[in-house]
Amino acid sequence: MHTFGHPVKLDELQKVLEKYNIALIEDSAESIGSYYKGKHTGTFGKFGVLSFNGNKVITTGGGGMILCNDEELAKKAKHITTTAKVPHPWEFKHDMIGYNYRLTNTAAALGCAQIETLDHILKLKRELAKKYQEFFKDSELEFFTEPENCQSNYWLNAIIARDRQQRDELLEYTNKNGVMTRPIWELMNRLPMFENCQTDSLEHSIWFVDRVINIPSAAVIPGYGK
Ligand SMILES: Cc1ncc(COP(=O)(O)O)c(C=O)c1O
Repeated sequence: MHTFGHPVKLDELQKVLEKYNIALIEDSAESIGSYYKGKHTGTFGKFGVLSFNGNKVITTGGGGMILCNDEELAKKAKHITTTAKVPHPWEFKHDMIGYNYRLTNTAAALGCAQIETLDHILKLKRELAKKYQEFFKDSELEFFTEPENCQSNYWLNAIIARDRQQRDELLEYTNKNGVMTRPIWELMNRLPMFENCQTDSLEHSIWFVDRVINIPSAAVIPGYGK
């Protein structure tokens, strides 16, 4: 998963996956327009997925896209996501359990219009991130920047507080004063339906949950749509 649009350390990850013979599937829901060593995220693994949910860099209102370079696998993915219907002039036969996960024509049309704005949105998002970087330069709060050899879309800008107390104070202060900030996701094992699931110590996840705050990240295109 390329969190907040920042590419994950794919080379290191690939080594581990090769060692244990595990396939790579990239959750690139947040990272359209982000590149790892010059190659687009979501194109390294057997599959990559993009999200076009309303909160993403571009949207179709909902839905997303599967990226796949293997023709056979891509065909199978399409089959399963379009009800697994066997092509036939009139019969309705399904040869597997399938799902109706199509992007509707109207949503796809919206996506076509949105994708025309992608380069511009990415430019604005990177400009905003640059401003934040400058702003937080001398602050004790660390602004999260793109990893080495990567180009990020800066989907969600993030800062890292000193500790949980500072995180909570900042969330309280900003939200009370009309600036929308958010903590990151609650850890899954802290949700009631998963609280009995096995975990390891999750020390890094806990460290991040205690400190990371997302700050306003919208790229507003001046005059767009007028
Ligand atoms: C990392 C990640 N994976 C998956 C999803 C789910 O995507 P969707 O809302 O398109 O189902 C999201 C966000 O919505 C996400 O941020």
